[in-house]
Amino acid sequence: MASDTLPRPPAIGLDEYRWRRRALMDALPASSAVLLPAATLVTRSNDSEYPFRQDSDFHYLCGFPEPDALLLLLPGREDGEAILFCPDKDPALEAWTGIRVGAEAAVERFGVDQAFANSERDERLAGLLDGRHSLYLPLGDERAMALADEVRHQLLARARQGARAPQALADIAVPIHEQRLIKSDGELELMRHAARISARAHVRAMRSVRPGLAEYQLQAEIEHEFLWHGASAPAYSTIVGGGANACVLHYIENAATLADGDLVLIDAGAEFALYAGDITRTFPVNGHFSDAQRSVYEIVLAAQVRAVESVRSGVTLGELHRGVVRDLTRGLIELGLLEGDLDARIDDESYRRFYLHSTSHWLGLDVHDVGGYRRDGEPRQLEPGMVLTIEPGLYIPDDSDIPAALRGIGVRIEDDVAVTASGHEVLTADVPKRVEDIEALMVKH
Ligand code: GLY
Ligand code: MN
Ligand code: MN
Repeated sequence: MASDTLPRPPAIGLDEYRWRRRALMDALPASSAVLLPAATLVTRSNDSEYPFRQDSDFHYLCGFPEPDALLLLLPGREDGEAILFCPDKDPALEAWTGIRVGAEAAVERFGVDQAFANSERDERLAGLLDGRHSLYLPLGDERAMALADEVRHQLLARARQGARAPQALADIAVPIHEQRLIKSDGELELMRHAARISARAHVRAMRSVRPGLAEYQLQAEIEHEFLWHGASAPAYSTIVGGGANACVLHYIENAATLADGDLVLIDAGAEFALYAGDITRTFPVNGHFSDAQRSVYEIVLAAQVRAVESVRSGVTLGELHRGVVRDLTRGLIELGLLEGDLDARIDDESYRRFYLHSTSHWLGLDVHDVGGYRRDGEPRQLEPGMVLTIEPGLYIPDDSDIPAALRGIGVRIEDDVAVTASGHEVLTADVPKRVEDIEALMVKH
C-alpha cells in the first residue's frame, strides 16, 4: 500500500532549550544547582540493547541525544550556567556504535555554555558544585544519588580547605514537570505531527482489516505507518484486541485471529521527536457494526464527543470524568445492563463493572505525561498549552448474566486534545470515529 509523505515540523531550537533552562533556574532558590543524568542503554539480550530512548526530563532541558551524559545547571555562574558532560570521543568504538558528538561540538550544537568529556567528570564535578547550598536532582535515581554522594564525600573531605558541600538534596522532578505540563508552540507542532502520523496509522488499519487476519498483522500495518513517517517508535506497546480481547485494558499479546462479526479495538500512538500520540479506535472486523455493537458504540461516542467539546480553560479533569460517567451510566441503564435510578447507579459505582479507568491523562514527551493533577490541594484547572486525552470506554464482560448479544463487546474511543486560549484543538481529528464515517472508509474498493 503506497503511503504519502508528510512535511516534517521544525525541531525545537536552541533558543527554546535555553529558555527552558532559564525558566527552571528562575524557579529554584538562590545558591542551588541541578544535576540531571541522561538515560543509559539497557541490555535486551546478550550483546544487544533495547533501542535507546533519552530520558524525557533530560531531553526537555537540552535535547542531547546520547546515553550516559549529565546536565549540570549552576544558576549565576559566570563561566556558564549550563554544563554538559558527555561520552568521550572514541574513534575505535564509534566505528561500531556510531559517531558521538563529543564535548567540543556539543557546545555549538546543543547551545550549552560548557561541555566536558565524561572522563573529566570525576575531577571536575565536586569543584563545580562547591558552595552550592541545595542540590536538585531526581531523588530515587540511583546514578544521580551516587554522584551526589560522591560529590558530598569529596567536598566534606576538603572542608578544612574551605570547601562547602551541598546541605540539602531536593527533588528536581516537580519543577521540571510543572514546566513540561504547559506546551510551547514548538512542542504543539511536534505533537500535531505525532498525532497526524498516529491518525494515518489508524486509517490504514481500518482499510486493511479483514476476517482471518491476525491481530499482530494489524499491528504491523499500524507500525509500518509510524516508521514510514519517521516516527522513532510506538509511544507505548500497540494494543490490538479483537472481540473480547478489547475488554483487557492492557492487552498487548496481539496474537489472536480477528473473527468475522467481532469488533477490534486498537490503541496505538506514534512517538515523533519524543512526543507521543495516543489514539484508540474500535471498528468492525468485517466493516459493518451489528445492532448490538452499534448500540454500545454510540453510547461511548456520545460521551466522548461531549467530553471533548467540554475541554476549555478552567475545567478540571474530574469534571470531564464525571460527565463521562454520567453519560455512560445512562447508556448502561438504556442497554439494560444496569437497573434503576441514574444518580443511584452513579453513587454506588455499579458502572465500574463496565468502565473502571479514568477518562484523561496528560500527554507530551511521555504518553502518561508528567505534571500534577492537583494544585494547592485542589483539582487542577485546565490552562492553554496543556494536552490531554479523552478516552472513555465500555467493556462488557462475557458473563452469563449479560444478554448474549452484548457479551464480550469492548469499545474505547480516544483522542488527543490541546487546550487553547479560545477552547480546544483536537489533534487527532484526522481519523474518523462516527459509525457512518468508519463504515464508509472501510468499504473495499
Ligand atoms: N495507551 C495508553 C493510554 O491510553 O493511556
Ligand atoms: Mn491514553
Ligand atoms: Mn491509548
